[in-house]
Amino acid sequence: MKQLYFLLCLLLVGCRSEPKVDYEAQKSATFTTAAVAGPHPLATRTAVEVLRRGGNAIDAAVAMQFAMAVVFPRAGNIGGGGFLVYRAADGATLSLDYRETAPAAASRDMYLDTAGNVTEGLSTRGHLAVGVPGTVAGIAAMHERLGTLPWAELLQPAIDFARDGYRLSESEIDRLKRYHADFNEFNETTPFSDSTLGAGAQVKQPDLAATLIRIQEAGRDGFYTGETADLIVAEMESGGGLITRDDLAAYAPAWKEPITKDYKGYRLLSMPPSSSGGVALAQMAEMVEPYPLGDYGFQSVRSVQVIAEAMRRAYADRAEYLGDAKFYPVPVDSLLDDAYLRQRMADFRFDTAGTSVTTVAGQVAMKENFETTHISIVDSLGNAVSITTTLNGNYGSKVMVDGGGFFLNNEMDDFSAKPGVPNMFGLVGKEANAIEPGKRMLSSMTPTIVEKEGELFMVIGAPGGSTIITAVLQTFLNVAEYGMELPEAVAAPRFHHQWLPDQILYETDALAGGVLDSLTELGYQFREVNSMAVIKAVRVLPDGSLQAAADPRNPDDDVEGY
Ligand code: GLY
Repeated sequence: MKQLYFLLCLLLVGCRSEPKVDYEAQKSATFTTAAVAGPHPLATRTAVEVLRRGGNAIDAAVAMQFAMAVVFPRAGNIGGGGFLVYRAADGATLSLDYRETAPAAASRDMYLDTAGNVTEGLSTRGHLAVGVPGTVAGIAAMHERLGTLPWAELLQPAIDFARDGYRLSESEIDRLKRYHADFNEFNETTPFSDSTLGAGAQVKQPDLAATLIRIQEAGRDGFYTGETADLIVAEMESGGGLITRDDLAAYAPAWKEPITKDYKGYRLLSMPPSSSGGVALAQMAEMVEPYPLGDYGFQSVRSVQVIAEAMRRAYADRAEYLGDAKFYPVPVDSLLDDAYLRQRMADFRFDTAGTSVTTVAGQVAMKENFETTHISIVDSLGNAVSITTTLNGNYGSKVMVDGGGFFLNNEMDDFSAKPGVPNMFGLVGKEANAIEPGKRMLSSMTPTIVEKEGELFMVIGAPGGSTIITAVLQTFLNVAEYGMELPEAVAAPRFHHQWLPDQILYETDALAGGVLDSLTELGYQFREVNSMAVIKAVRVLPDGSLQAAADPRNPDDDVEGY
């Protein structure tokens, strides 16, 4: 078997073209046949090359995720986790949860000191912050079920980028420099040394290339067993981390039914728990649906009030009820019940701001600086892929597996370390999201597909921590309610409310024309931020062509297609 792989690799190496080292990102374009939106031009081009060779959207997503693990190291990953929402051309839908899990040795109070207080940094930096990675198992599972091109072929572009090198983008160089001291704290060496970070720098990642070749040869076992697993466990042991060989061998992704929500002729399909994204998105859509937002106007006082109050209520429920449904009886049906959600807005009034003191989680029947990244793909047949994947923070825990060449996540911070104490996104949680061995930490990732009158309409998602869900909602509403073209809808300034803290975050250009002052007079509190969440989307236009839009908020965001 090994010899066969060796021959295959030789063949592939012989055929491979030199990796592209130059690129310009484009933020929007319309294509006749297939389209990809993602965080980096080398990754989007990798996906389009697969599509042109006859691969389907899943094949393209497989190759693109591995390519992102090389060329977009701050969030692209094999050491993290993610979610897929999939809609086949015939309308069948699926989702795949490949979120990280807590190691078997994790415990509820593992981040608390002897006085019961959260120890700063323990869940966000270093070896103890790392959850058992799910990415490689997830990619293997989606390929096994839905892919068509050979696995080894789809790994090859990523291997080429890692072994032969590629030019770092300016924005990645800036980011890498910012985290250099962190890398030095947790690693003897990384490929991102000062000498590789000059303008136009080329970087090679030979250890990562070797890891990817092991995955190319052995599939998921090339990561979860054998040499790669040994390297991860050795890294854990060197820094006081918890992940064992058994944790790695036991990791399993889970196929699930997407959350669905109808909205004025549209249907939103999104991610169920262990993400909060689908539930919260559906809740907010249901709460705002009775209001004529289009008539109120984009970011008018009334529109902002209705949407912000729906956000407040959804995030209050998130904190109380959402977590890994395998470990906690998340009352999804009750949370999505139309009558419950209409009643949730019953105390909303236009003449004053609501408050997160009186607005707490509803009573439902019980039967639950950041980096993530997203890709949206539609192939020539009309299959649609929406994938959000994450290391959590930029470069995750900042721990790179020695000899393995990849960063490990700091996803453990997405658990509630202590009830009511905010995580790095300011999100609070309770019992539903307490740490337990083998449990998935609650996510905000919201990979979403939208249908209109039963046909594919839009593929959408974003990185951005807690602001992902509200950014997906606003981008959808910008098109569905405010009549914007997709590029305009993606670029439009956004706001965000997450129940606690009781304030509206807004991007610098948002809430213009006196709206901010009017809302302040009503009693709302605000905090200005430079930018939040970075959308990548594809929309099917009435003539069947595909309009792809990436986000000007990330210089490297890119769309490609044909
Ligand atoms: N790590 C960010 C999220 O999953 O929401």
